[in-house]
Amino acid sequence: MCAVALMACNKQAENMQNEQVNKQDAAIENIMTRVSVREFTGEKITDEQIDILLRAAMAAPSAINKQPWAFIVVTDEALIAKLGEALPYSRCSNKPACAIIPCGDMSKAIEGEMAAFWINDVSAATENLLLAAHAMGLGAVWTGLHPDMNRAGMVQQMLGLPEHIIPLCVVPVGVPAEQPAVKDKYKAENIHFNKW
Ligand SMILES: Cc1cc2nc3c(=O)[nH]c(=O)nc-3n(C[C@H](O)[C@H](O)[C@H](O)COP(=O)(O)O)c2cc1C
Repeated sequence: MCAVALMACNKQAENMQNEQVNKQDAAIENIMTRVSVREFTGEKITDEQIDILLRAAMAAPSAINKQPWAFIVVTDEALIAKLGEALPYSRCSNKPACAIIPCGDMSKAIEGEMAAFWINDVSAATENLLLAAHAMGLGAVWTGLHPDMNRAGMVQQMLGLPEHIIPLCVVPVGVPAEQPAVKDKYKAENIHFNKW
């Protein structure tokens, strides 16, 4: 190979390496700076933004790739307010643009004693959703329903969910009206190499 071609090759390899480092830095930064946002401005978000959030959620891993999930997107203001009244911890009274409710779909879940894997699967999808929201400059918070069947039952009833659809949580999403400080949760004592 001539010297010029070799230099071009090296430059291309260097560019690719830099690109990889930049991608890694951006992804880790996004994970490390995500915080729960519970106050929103009331501004709308676009259908395209909602679509990206849902695509990110559904990119999550799931046991045997069953993808046993369904997502209810509540954009109706009156319904968001009703959720907020019934579930004060859901922060739906704090002017989110929408509320997304990740659910387990029991008709798609693993059958038998491993069925409960749906909780892990839908949790992974929910975290993806939170991270995508943060990367897009939006705010969101995971607010728990399941396993509190009282809360989950209320949502099931309000949204007319069929029996095989179990709501895991309510995630209000919107333009942040607060900037909570990032919490440093790293604790070396939580880590064990090779054995306890
Ligand atoms: C399973 C689960 C249930 C949660 N339920 C609520 C809730 O009902 N209301 C709320 O405001 N936050 C809720 N949160 C958010 C936590 O309070 C929050 O993640 C935690 O305080 C850490 O803060 P950070 O998300 O800003 O890092 C919940 C989080 C998880 C994972």
